[in-house]
Amino acid sequence: MATIITAALLLLARSSASSIDFSRRTHGFCKQLDLPVFATADSAVYDLPRVNNDIETTAWAIHTDTWSTPLGPPTVIKNTTTSDTFSIHAQLCVPKSLAKKKDILQIATHGVHYDSRYWDPKLDPEKQSYVEAALREGYSILTYDRLGVGQSDHPDAYNVVQGPLEVEILRQLTLMARNGTLYDFAAKARPLHPAFKKLAKPSKVVHVGHSFGSVLTSAFIATYGLLTDGAIITGFVPNKYLAKGGYASFNAVKARDRPSGYIVCQKSGIQTIFFAGDLKTAFTKEMLDYGDAIKQPVPIGEFASAYHILGRKGPSFKAPIQYMLPEFDFYICGGDCKGIFNKQAIKETYPNATVIESAIQPNTGHAFTLHNNATAGYQVTFDFLARNGL
Ligand SMILES: *[C@@H]1O[C@H](CO)[C@@H](O)[C@H](O)[C@H]1NC(C)=O
Ligand SMILES: *[C@@H]1O[C@H](CO)[C@@H](O)[C@H](O)[C@H]1NC(C)=O
Ligand SMILES: *[C@@H]1O[C@H](CO)[C@@H](O)[C@H](O)[C@H]1NC(C)=O
Ligand SMILES: *[C@@H]1O[C@H](CO)[C@@H](O)[C@H](O)[C@H]1NC(C)=O
Repeated sequence: MATIITAALLLLARSSASSIDFSRRTHGFCKQLDLPVFATADSAVYDLPRVNNDIETTAWAIHTDTWSTPLGPPTVIKNTTTSDTFSIHAQLCVPKSLAKKKDILQIATHGVHYDSRYWDPKLDPEKQSYVEAALREGYSILTYDRLGVGQSDHPDAYNVVQGPLEVEILRQLTLMARNGTLYDFAAKARPLHPAFKKLAKPSKVVHVGHSFGSVLTSAFIATYGLLTDGAIITGFVPNKYLAKGGYASFNAVKARDRPSGYIVCQKSGIQTIFFAGDLKTAFTKEMLDYGDAIKQPVPIGEFASAYHILGRKGPSFKAPIQYMLPEFDFYICGGDCKGIFNKQAIKETYPNATVIESAIQPNTGHAFTLHNNATAGYQVTFDFLARNGL
């Protein structure tokens, strides 16, 4: 009897897993994948406070925000190398419409406090999901949970999940996409579906980032310029107000379901960082509630190592780049992105970029995808790509 019940439960579990592993969308098909990704990168042991409870979380934020606390290289206790195979959870979506189908894959990297669902909110997907909008436009799109986040591995928060390693993971995902192994993996992953059979590998790859995912994308295109055909940088731009809100503005606590060093925003922190604009028109209470419901813990080693990947120069990048800035981005632009974009500075970073443009999405806070009028903003990006042959 017990074995029959167990078998029935297993079957149930399997069938529900497969209905989640594959989904039919209005404009395409999506598969969930757990990709084994080998990466190796410089890392470091940083002089960081331990964060094991809520009091230590606030103390970490104050310590790190304090003007006299050393940041960057002087905090390195020991230089190390990290090499490992990590399980990276990803979603590959391919468009339905053959008429509009482009031979282009977008790889989108989310920021801190969220996972890949940032790009694909289940809240009114036709109006909010960047993934749906990309499929409608004929792009294939890979979104993934960064290391330490969502359904990807959650290794040590201090010494393993660090910026340089994450750049290398993005590089490996890109190499897998370019050499066809990503699409082969998707074709073989269960449940089998004709939409994923015999996909020709993409001829072009466009990299899209949000927030810390844009920091990673910026470093990736600077370091490996030949691996990208175009970049869309959302919710990030180097400027004098960057991160002025400080870590204390996260209003974070220790993440209950994670090991030492993982922290998570309280709802007021989510609003502070991610939501802004006219309260009557910019976003709804449901969007804020959803933005809080899908929030994710962050490992503090990621912040300690960020200096390592900021400001990398990229003469090998020879493609178009667009900066898409939410008008009222509190954390990135000190609350107002208008007039902040410095094209000359970007030209110095990417001297061989073919096109450098910026746009402002009006009446929107940092979490672009969770505000009204998001789709009109996505169209600004798709128009930019189309004008540049992508
Ligand atoms: C770590 O490496 C950097 C860059 O090579 C070097 O400048 C620094 O002195 C090293 N730090 C330690 C503690 O070995
Ligand atoms: C494709 O790239 C991945 C990631 O670098 C690598 O592991 C794999 O061996 C490559 N496969 C082929 C067939 O080149
Ligand atoms: C890119 O730009 C740099 C600096 O302007 C220049 O020296 C170099 O020749 C250019 N081309 C390549 C392939 O880096
Ligand atoms: C919606 O976004 C588009 C694209 O950025 C913009 O042109 C338009 O003015 C926005 N509409 C409102 C009501 O903010």
